[in-house]
Amino acid sequence: MILSKLSLLNFKNYDQIELNVSPYVNCFLGKNGMGKTNILDGIYYLSNCKSFFNSVDSQNIKNEEDFFVLEGEFDGEENKEKIYCGVKRGKKKVFKKGKKEYEKLSDHIGLINTVLISPMDTNLIYEGSETRRKFIDLIISQYDKLYLKTLINYNKVLNHRNAYLKSLQQGMKFDSLSLEIWNEQLITLGKEVHTKRTEFISEFKIVFTEIYNAISGREEHIKLSYSSQLAETEFKDLLTESLHKEKYLGYTTKGTHKDDFSFEIGGKSLKKFGSQGQQKTYLIALKLAQFKHIESKTESKPILLLDDIYDKLDESRISHLMEQICEGTFGQVFITDTNTERLPKFFKKKKYECFAFEIDEGNLVS
Ligand SMILES: Nc1ncnc2c1ncn2[C@@H]1O[C@H](COP(=O)(O)OP(=O)(O)OP(=O)(O)O)[C@@H](O)[C@H]1O
Ligand SMILES: [Mg+2]
Repeated sequence: MILSKLSLLNFKNYDQIELNVSPYVNCFLGKNGMGKTNILDGIYYLSNCKSFFNSVDSQNIKNEEDFFVLEGEFDGEENKEKIYCGVKRGKKKVFKKGKKEYEKLSDHIGLINTVLISPMDTNLIYEGSETRRKFIDLIISQYDKLYLKTLINYNKVLNHRNAYLKSLQQGMKFDSLSLEIWNEQLITLGKEVHTKRTEFISEFKIVFTEIYNAISGREEHIKLSYSSQLAETEFKDLLTESLHKEKYLGYTTKGTHKDDFSFEIGGKSLKKFGSQGQQKTYLIALKLAQFKHIESKTESKPILLLDDIYDKLDESRISHLMEQICEGTFGQVFITDTNTERLPKFFKKKKYECFAFEIDEGNLVS
């Protein structure tokens, strides 16, 4: 899907802005804190039903205002879609395709796919396993609706099971039948999640390694691996073994909600031993691999959102990426830059269509 028109109302530092955008490259240019990244986040929102940067919906409403509205017009190969997102303080978020409101936000995931490269990607290295699981889960969900459904159901059953364990912790009498009901469902769903994550990582790491080596210009020994308690032991046995402990703890300690993905370079942890450049390259390669993987699964290019890439890459790597954009490797691209000249100049020289938007304190200057 290609975005043709975007409008933001009371979103972050914007009062109201309406943009007709190019199907090729769009640059958002201006000084620090002007609202360049907020535009990319608006597009991310319309794709993923949430902000990439602030998960508290109401905090994305412009200060002092009561609501925000995002609207995007998207062109597919055969159809056009108008997507609406409205958030009002104290009210449920409303998401619509055309005039019809989605019953479940998860139904929207996969319709408009985006890949965002941002300085915040370092969280993937430094934060806990949940951040990595969310990243991988989003990629799979972007092309596999059933996976997302399974994952949501797994989490629901997990919550029920945890509530039951909590009640045991608080003194309720143990009833093995009640637990068995949750166990059976958790095992079926957990095994499905595990199988899909395993399949995903085996394909994804090939694309990822190719991209990493192409960016770094040499073959480094990098590794991306998936670790799960379910890999070695049957889920049923894991639950049986841990029941005694869990009755005291009041929550489920074993399962796919404990899975992790590890990033290594030269046989060592990327977090502890990778240089800054290696870490940046690793993250960019992960994101570009996300792009390639989704493209191959859906036969359609996701929208690429590049936030502050000058902060992430050196000049030669940026030129390489820009060349790839001009060669059509990526489809529609949105880029932010604090330098108002270099991107428009580059694309003009290449005779590649580029719309440049200059942003000043949440207003469009030109
Ligand atoms: N809910 C909100 N209400 C009003 N302003 C907000 C809200 N949320 C964020 N902002 C403002 O948006 C501005 C940041 O916008 P953004 O991150 O898009 O800037 P930027 O142009 O990308 O800057 P940089 O070049 O530093 O990355 C900040 O000044 C911030 O205070
Ligand atoms: Mg920014």
